Amino acid sequence: MIGAGYVGLVSGACFSEFGVNVTCVDTDKDKIERLTRGEMPIYEPGLDNLVLSNVRAKRLSFTTDLKAAVTGAEAVFIAVGTPSRRGDGHADLSYVYAAAREIAEALDGYTVVVTKSTVPVGTGDEVERIIREARPDADFDVVSNPEFLREGSAINDFMRPDRIVIGTESERAQEVMRHLYRVLYLIETPIVFTSRTTSELVKYAANTFLATKITFINEIADLCEKVGADVQDVARGIGLDGRIGRKFLHAGPGYGGSCFPKDTLALAKTARAAGIPLRIVETVIDINDERKKGIAEKVVAACGGSVAGKTIAVLGLTFKPNTDDMRDAPSLDIIPALQRAGATVRVFDPEGMSQAKALLNGVVWCDDAYETLIEADALTILTEWNEFRALDLERMKSLMKSPVMIDMRNIYDSSAMAEAGFRYASIGRPPVKPR
Ligand code: UDX
Repeated sequence: MIGAGYVGLVSGACFSEFGVNVTCVDTDKDKIERLTRGEMPIYEPGLDNLVLSNVRAKRLSFTTDLKAAVTGAEAVFIAVGTPSRRGDGHADLSYVYAAAREIAEALDGYTVVVTKSTVPVGTGDEVERIIREARPDADFDVVSNPEFLREGSAINDFMRPDRIVIGTESERAQEVMRHLYRVLYLIETPIVFTSRTTSELVKYAANTFLATKITFINEIADLCEKVGADVQDVARGIGLDGRIGRKFLHAGPGYGGSCFPKDTLALAKTARAAGIPLRIVETVIDINDERKKGIAEKVVAACGGSVAGKTIAVLGLTFKPNTDDMRDAPSLDIIPALQRAGATVRVFDPEGMSQAKALLNGVVWCDDAYETLIEADALTILTEWNEFRALDLERMKSLMKSPVMIDMRNIYDSSAMAEAGFRYASIGRPPVKPR
């Protein structure tokens, strides 16, 4: 497994749990040393135990020595990062190609080289070309096998996936892949075999479709607010239609994270380059960017039109719960906007504080939810961590200057909040006057 980041580490640990002997390789010496000591570089529920037990069982190990790990391996997964390239939004494939070159040097006997990183259509061809050029004698196939792991539930997503997509036309490679995934094959997980190019596109199409679904319900939420409808009922009303489905219809402050923003952009770029602009996708990207930039206005409006000189408490900084990942989190747009409007911002997140510290300036870092509320003129909840779902409303009121809550994830009940005396605003739901 080349790359011990999110995808590589989770996939490596899960394969080892399936009984496969896995070596995770990373160029970051410090990370490898920490992993060897059992310290996780990321927060992902259950990962530490999974890693530890498989290290003990000697099925999982970590190294910086790519050559040693690749030599003799039946399959080599490329799971390195593909960040958005600065300036143009294309996926930066330099890490993928560098890995391919190094793998080429180490190949020994028939090997399946698998791209697990999300890579643009055609990358598999390029990886094959690089390896072939470096090692005309090598016996290998290049396969695309995209991951569909969600942060926070990555292990479950790996162990019980809706499907596995494997892109290769080589029967020999298919056999190796089927063998690697045999545990899932036995529990009748659908395995979709496609061409390599199709498989690469499946990943982008899946993420872009989900981002579109979220953006659709976010726009419907805005309309609900204007006409006095309830977006959660709309989501349920349409989601129960099996053709639509209930998932990914939670309105919120806009999607973030390591995948949706990057992948939607990369697909739009690929399509433009192919002369087939995807106008829906381009619009989704614009709407989501504008939403994250503009949604601080909701807080301002709830504070009576100005936050100048006011103190705003923010609960939740990460782009979603159960992760410490701050990449493209809505908080990174909302908090600076509130600061520019003159507010003092007090923040707390259960896992995201250390990453957030490098990205947010001038905020007051608090140790828990209640400390955040001290003398606050309003509270906004940006991430639906479980521990924010059942706050003690009376205690909150006693700490805050005024009982105002802007719930960007709709985790509280409007009537109950009104009953408790809160001025409560949420996303796409009719306001209820405080009693
Ligand atoms: C996503 C895909 O789900 C996963 O299959 C892919 O491999 C990687 O990208 P992830 O980024 O971890 O996973 O999180 P996800 O749970 O999909 O949420 C992404 C963003 O959408 C978050 O900001 C989340 O808050 C937002 N979201 C999600 C909504 O606003 N509403 C929803 O209904 C669902």
